[in-house]
Amino acid sequence: MSETLRIEERDSHVLAVLDRPEKRNAIDQETVDALHRLCARLEVERRTLILAGAGGSFAAGADIAQLRERRAADALAGINTRCFQRIRALPMPVIAVLDGYALGGGAELAYAADIRIGTPTLQIGNPETGLGIIAAAGATWRLQEIVGDALASELLLTGRILGADEALAAGLVSAVLEPEAALARAVELADRVARLDPAATQATKRMLLAPRAAHPEADLAEQAVLFESPEKERRMTAFLERRSKREQA
Ligand code: COA
Repeated sequence: MSETLRIEERDSHVLAVLDRPEKRNAIDQETVDALHRLCARLEVERRTLILAGAGGSFAAGADIAQLRERRAADALAGINTRCFQRIRALPMPVIAVLDGYALGGGAELAYAADIRIGTPTLQIGNPETGLGIIAAAGATWRLQEIVGDALASELLLTGRILGADEALAAGLVSAVLEPEAALARAVELADRVARLDPAATQATKRMLLAPRAAHPEADLAEQAVLFESPEKERRMTAFLERRSKREQA
């Protein structure tokens, strides 16, 4: 258990809420440790993860009080980077609900998700250069992949923060909804995923994360495994039998 990460077990997913509202959910070492523990579990249990923040913020960044004390060896250890990479690589989908501030490391945690849903108060971006550091926990490569080179360069080089409308227009979030509805949408998506074949979902995620040069051979290898799976046989037979019953009726 952690004081800063509240975890709820749900039917179709696990909900993890960054819960340090008095510090705008700034991501400290305790939160990073709790996220690693959660990842270790989800790597085995293979469930969809919904990430959210308490008190009207997602996360206003890495904890600047701790960042100020970190030295070269800490940078090389990639304290947040390794944690967010692990979240990115979770076998099942990760959905982030972004309410209020998603800044710096908070934005990078959001970029590590597969699906992002915003709220009208969203403020998302990377002000790191203003603090004398780079956004080294995913922004320099993930933000480009999500919104393209032109906007990513502008945001990372200027520290400009996007509001909800601009984030939606840029494809940084796929919807903007009031906080309750945003969480409800995330749950709806997790429920949808739970009805699909988990092996096919995991293979799709692996292929979404695979480097360009791995395609299409890696896809064919994944498909070869799935083409032999009893679940594929069952799902396709169920579809065809439903159709033929309808035709007979
Ligand atoms: N790290 C550590 N503490 C943080 C923090 C962060 N990234 N973001 C906010 N906090 C703390 C503040 O220090 C303050 O603590 P205090 O009450 O003990 O003084 C508390 O959270 C509330 O912040 P405050 O600035 O008073 O709230 P606000 O609503 O006026 O402003 C922000 C919110 C997010 C605009 C402002 O806190 C901010 O600019 N935070 C830093 C954002 C940033 O640069 N992130 C990148 C880090 S990599």
